[in-house]
Amino acid sequence: MQVLIKKDQTEVGKWVADYIIKKIIDFNPTNNRPFVLGLPTGSSPLPTYNELIRRHKLGDISFQNIITFNMDEYVGIPESHTQSYHFFMYVNFFNHIDIPKQNVHILNGNALNLDQECLEYEKNIFNAGGIDLFLCGIGNDGHIALNEPGSSLTSRTRVKSLCYDTIHFNSRFFDNDLSKVPTKALTVGVGTIMDAREVLIVITGYNKARALKEVVESGVSHLWPASILQMHQNGIIVCDESATMEL
Ligand code: GLP
Repeated sequence: MQVLIKKDQTEVGKWVADYIIKKIIDFNPTNNRPFVLGLPTGSSPLPTYNELIRRHKLGDISFQNIITFNMDEYVGIPESHTQSYHFFMYVNFFNHIDIPKQNVHILNGNALNLDQECLEYEKNIFNAGGIDLFLCGIGNDGHIALNEPGSSLTSRTRVKSLCYDTIHFNSRFFDNDLSKVPTKALTVGVGTIMDAREVLIVITGYNKARALKEVVESGVSHLWPASILQMHQNGIIVCDESATMEL
């Protein structure tokens, strides 16, 4: 696992976007399938998305030959809800690039059969050739996607009950009303993320300092699910100086 430290979150975003662009450009001419990119929501990837959009507008990169799989989605809120991860991804990224709609995959938190939806998602990832690069954020408590502390480190895509801390933390996006926050989500598993050929976790800001310390300096533990990155052959953490305060 590599740990790269950049000055601030803008520098992190520029570096990560540049890295993704190089990966896509190197991949496309030599492979007979599209590059498969795993994507997160949250504030951490926003500087990366903004930079990718900027570079796309400059003509540096096309997303025509890319397939994406998002990592998670709430259960029980409509896609059009401003807090759904569908809404987030289109507003912050997909609406500004040239990716074909059929290449975008996001779990359907309103599927009639949620377990079936999760199984299909795993199959779709497999059929696309597996994920080449999974871009991830991390929760303050070390959760990755919505694999809360205590999640199995070999877990697959499934329905997950959110822990109280996550519900409480997310209530600021739901009028500070705990009763409006979804209590369940669909999420790729820790094992699903670890199957990616490469995993890149963005960790920025003082409030992530404890998580970065646990993930990098402690042993691998399901209590800090992102610590599994230590076991990935191609695992990269890109953090800013603020996040390194406890290292
Ligand atoms: C949510 C998302 C995660 C994200 C985390 C941290 O739980 N489902 O994918 O990593 O929030 O968000 P932020 O980047 O805003 O700190």
